[in-house]
Amino acid sequence: MKFFAALFALFAAAGVLAAGGATSQPRASLATVYSSCVNDKQAALTFDDGPWQWLNDISKFLVAAGGKGTFCFNGKNWACIYDPDARDRVKYAYDNGHQVVSHTWSHPDLNTLSSDQIRDEMSKIDQALERITGASPAFMRPPYGNYNNLVLEVAKQRNQSVIMWDLDTGDSVGASVEDSKKVYSDAVAKNPRNILALNHETYSGTAETVVPYAIKLLQSNGYQLVTVAECLGGLAPYQRTGAPQPPDSTWTC
Ligand SMILES: *[C@@H]1O[C@H](CO)[C@@H](O)[C@H](O)[C@H]1NC(C)=O
Ligand SMILES: [Zn+2]
Repeated sequence: MKFFAALFALFAAAGVLAAGGATSQPRASLATVYSSCVNDKQAALTFDDGPWQWLNDISKFLVAAGGKGTFCFNGKNWACIYDPDARDRVKYAYDNGHQVVSHTWSHPDLNTLSSDQIRDEMSKIDQALERITGASPAFMRPPYGNYNNLVLEVAKQRNQSVIMWDLDTGDSVGASVEDSKKVYSDAVAKNPRNILALNHETYSGTAETVVPYAIKLLQSNGYQLVTVAECLGGLAPYQRTGAPQPPDSTWTC
């Protein structure tokens, strides 16, 4: 009798556990998504899709104004990040105090990928950025601004937060230089607390005309030009920093 009672208790417990297991599936934890700055009177200018040939000019304009920007790099998009010119540009951005961010390896729409494919896209660019700069990025920006919960799960596993924007200059979707300048002037006219702006470093008009215009406009209206990590209240831009590594034959696209 005692044996059957024990057996019954065992099955009952198993049943409860099974039911509990089915209903309390642990919810995967998701990366934080930032679409706006936090600090007052700060503007974070972000530049996607490089490293490309206008990077140094953008950096020079920002540095000359006492400002900093944020570069969201791909591994294999306009250039191969391991090409000597591209490596130099990434290093130049980092050495000048701009924030270096992942924009994935090959710029896919992450919403169309499996979690393994997403992880591959994120880890290959993180590896390249850490090899070249010594720093492992704490932030990523999804191409086209597209992300789903799978993307946020993988980003969280990689200890990264996701950066969006609240002002789009439209330069990657056909906006003229005048259009992009107007995006900035219209925004500033509304006196926002802060600005997190999307630009692309792959257009000469952005680099040579829109950026100098935006810098002057923003500073004359009292906005400090800072990195995204800074405007989010001073978050750490990197998970770790160290020495850059010497290139070897495995540095290929
Ligand atoms: C994320 O952080 C955890 C805890 O510090 C660490 O164990 C893990 O290796 C990190 N993941 C990556 C991909 O760096
Ligand atoms: Zn992009």
